Amino acid sequence: MTHAPTRFPEGFLWGASTAAHQIEGNNVNSDWWRKEHSGTSHIQEPSLDAADSYHRWREDMDLLAELGFTDYRFSIEWARIEPAPGRFSHAELAHYRRMVDGAIERGLRPMVTLHHFTVPQWFENLGGFTADRAVELFTRYVEATAPVIAEGVDHVCTINEPNMIAVMAGAAKAGNTGFPPAGLPTPDEETTDAIIAVHHAAVKAVKAINPDINVGWTVANQVYQSLVGAEEVTAAYRHPREDVFIEAARGDDWIGVQSYTRTRIGLDGPLPAPADVERTLTSWEYYPAAVGYALRHTAAVVGDVPLIVTENGIATADDSRRLDYMKGALAEVEAGLRDGLDIRGYLHWSALDNYEWGSFKPTFGLISYDPVTFERTAKPSAEWLGGLGRTREFPSA
Ligand code: BGC
Repeated sequence: MTHAPTRFPEGFLWGASTAAHQIEGNNVNSDWWRKEHSGTSHIQEPSLDAADSYHRWREDMDLLAELGFTDYRFSIEWARIEPAPGRFSHAELAHYRRMVDGAIERGLRPMVTLHHFTVPQWFENLGGFTADRAVELFTRYVEATAPVIAEGVDHVCTINEPNMIAVMAGAAKAGNTGFPPAGLPTPDEETTDAIIAVHHAAVKAVKAINPDINVGWTVANQVYQSLVGAEEVTAAYRHPREDVFIEAARGDDWIGVQSYTRTRIGLDGPLPAPADVERTLTSWEYYPAAVGYALRHTAAVVGDVPLIVTENGIATADDSRRLDYMKGALAEVEAGLRDGLDIRGYLHWSALDNYEWGSFKPTFGLISYDPVTFERTAKPSAEWLGGLGRTREFPSA
């Protein structure tokens, strides 16, 4: 007789995630920095110092480890590492290596993202991922990161949310008319094909650095839920925005599942959430069950590839809602494990309040900081989630 599990499995990743541009501050060589200062209307405020984690990463890691987390996902910044084409900064590579060593010293296993939305300005000038030499240029960058990732890094993510990159490219080509009231803009097919090719080349480049590194990428999952009768419409809507990127992960060592809310689809396409639902600071429907759907859908599409929840959370100024959301979300993770899904970890978005791509207002963090002194304060939700890292017991146990 088999017993239903009551604990997260041995080795389960338990942590929180961040991205360089959103917390480091002063990422001046990046395309985003340029956008932030170009007067583009949808950007409400520039990232400036962000959480100053470029200097304060030790404090961040100290806190995460003290709270009970065992894993920390952070990204390294291509725009710093290769500020000019083919010119690599040894100082920045050493900086990120210190972060990897610093994590390990504190008992945090580092998961390193190589690309989280930002690129060097020179790469954007060439056309970004649809540039003729994109595969070669990204591969050259990956090879250069060897001093950072060659030792002590078990998990590497090549590219964060390639599907959102394709969607943003599609929106840009359509004249940046903004996001539709429900659902996402049509992804740019050329970007989709290019970024999948870049990912496959990057996986090989990481393996060439160290074949023991587990390589994957992380896909934004919108939890498209079909109304009765709209199943075909839903599948057709979802495929270019999600499934094509999940399919591209077949054969990888793991796939990252990133889930926040849901989108319902009717016969005419995506439907706005009803007016009376609770919404978070990003105006997304408060829907903690999302991650369960996201995990099951990803498993159904990708097949035999381990799943890691690499992002999940809400933007709220009321930390008790975050706690409630986490409880709902973890009940879904637990149910997935009980049903035999191969889930290898849960990393919350985000470790810190951060720069939410245009504004600091949507606060996703487990940890807040003072914008002048940068002093960090763990929120009650951080204590709760970190505490589970110590016991590894299911919250319902
Ligand atoms: C991204 C993060 C972002 C979060 C909340 C994901 O799309 O990877 O960078 O802050 O969702 O919007």
